[in-house]
Amino acid sequence: MKKEKASILIVEDEPKLRRLLELQLTDEDFIVTSAEDAEAGVVLLTKMTFDMVVTDFKLPGMSGLEFVHAVKRINANLPVIIMTAYGTVESAVDAMKAGASDYVLKPFSLAELVLVIRKELASDELRKENRDLREALGKRYEYKNIIATSEKMQAVLGLVERVAPTNATVLIGGESGVGKDLIARAIHEHSNRASGPFVKINSTAIPENLLESELFGYEKGAFSGAATSKPGKFELADKGTLFLDEIGDVPPATQVKLLRVLQDREFERLGGTKTQKVDVRLIAATNRDLRAALEEGTFREDLYYRLNVVAIDIPPLRDRKEDIPALANFFVEKYAKDSGKPAHAIAPDAMKILMDSRWPGNVRELENIIQRSVTLSSGNTLTATDIHLDSAQRRAPGTSPVLPEGMTLDQWEEEILQEALRRANGNKSQAARSLGISRNALRYRLSKIGVPDPPEAE
Ligand SMILES: Nc1ncnc2c1ncn2[C@@H]1O[C@H](COP(=O)(O)OP(=O)(O)OP(=O)(O)O)[C@@H](O)[C@H]1O
Ligand SMILES: [Mg+2]
Repeated sequence: MKKEKASILIVEDEPKLRRLLELQLTDEDFIVTSAEDAEAGVVLLTKMTFDMVVTDFKLPGMSGLEFVHAVKRINANLPVIIMTAYGTVESAVDAMKAGASDYVLKPFSLAELVLVIRKELASDELRKENRDLREALGKRYEYKNIIATSEKMQAVLGLVERVAPTNATVLIGGESGVGKDLIARAIHEHSNRASGPFVKINSTAIPENLLESELFGYEKGAFSGAATSKPGKFELADKGTLFLDEIGDVPPATQVKLLRVLQDREFERLGGTKTQKVDVRLIAATNRDLRAALEEGTFREDLYYRLNVVAIDIPPLRDRKEDIPALANFFVEKYAKDSGKPAHAIAPDAMKILMDSRWPGNVRELENIIQRSVTLSSGNTLTATDIHLDSAQRRAPGTSPVLPEGMTLDQWEEEILQEALRRANGNKSQAARSLGISRNALRYRLSKIGVPDPPEAE
């Protein structure tokens, strides 16, 4: 971490608050320069170097939002923290979209502001190191059970290494089967919480009405059927890591509660009055683009920005084919051992098939194919005839289906949505899963085409 003092530019038009911040942040060992409006701030930015900007949102002249844009034009990597009044959280979100890193709500305590500044400086340091790492990539990362031959996966592991010892919230993104669970565990195991619990909760696997009681626990009598009280996953994960899988499927009401835990580290059990404090590191994962969910309005932006302190995106297998041979050999060995089969090598013609596939199901699909091939094989080398790809894999590129005759895209979408619901007997979670979209996204699409929201059949 950085040893020399960090230099901070403060932009605040209210003279008393500006003076207070100057004094207090100097006491906290920062080098502080201040400006009374955004215009003066811009001038300073072009003359001096800063490690961070802390700015008021409501400014005379150039607005806070315009100022964030201006800062980013001058130095895209310079972190900006916004100070904003409670009623203008929405604008804070706009500022975050414009590239601000975080915000504090007025009135705030000095301790709160310092915490946000230090956290941001630490993750900025992390990003810098990661940039250096990507450039140099001299060091190879070795993790048992994780194959990472490609530079892309080496960069992922480099990031894991940097982020693991911090308490930063991590958002892991990537298609289904790319290894999000594996990376979440690796972060936990390389953190100073490794001796604490790793608790996982998958929001799609749990009926919507039970998710909150699973997360936060409940007191006896909280609802009919609550015969005893029960701790939730947050309590179980105390001193450890909570892994929230499929975060994009968390319903809006629960999103609000999660936001509160992330901000204050406290919550109540359902039906309980006692406030619980927990020391939990949160890792979230999603297999789809949460930004799209933000636009559809099914995922809260403030929660997104709280989760996305450090983002780790795992690329699909087809974009890192260099990993295929090592992965394939790794799985052959694993399943040969498990099934007592002699297979221990992969013939070149078989490897060529593996290399040429698109792997829509990513590493999990490769693993399944190898497992099947090893189990059915008889010799000690897997050959092309031992490899049986799924039919979706064999479809030649360019033959993707087009719309049926005479149908518009909307009509077709409606048809597909209705059919998925029918097949799932009206269970929205299941229908959404079969379509590869979130439950919230399904609801949104249904409402958009005017299909009434049928009651949930869990
Ligand atoms: N780099 C890797 N090295 C070794 N095994 C891997 C690697 N990546 C993934 N796997 C294996 O592939 C399988 C799928 O990985 P994982 O469950 O972590 O994916 P995921 O991204 O969480 O999938 P989903 O989106 O469906 O939850 C697991 O058995 C995992 O051990
Ligand atoms: Mg997973």
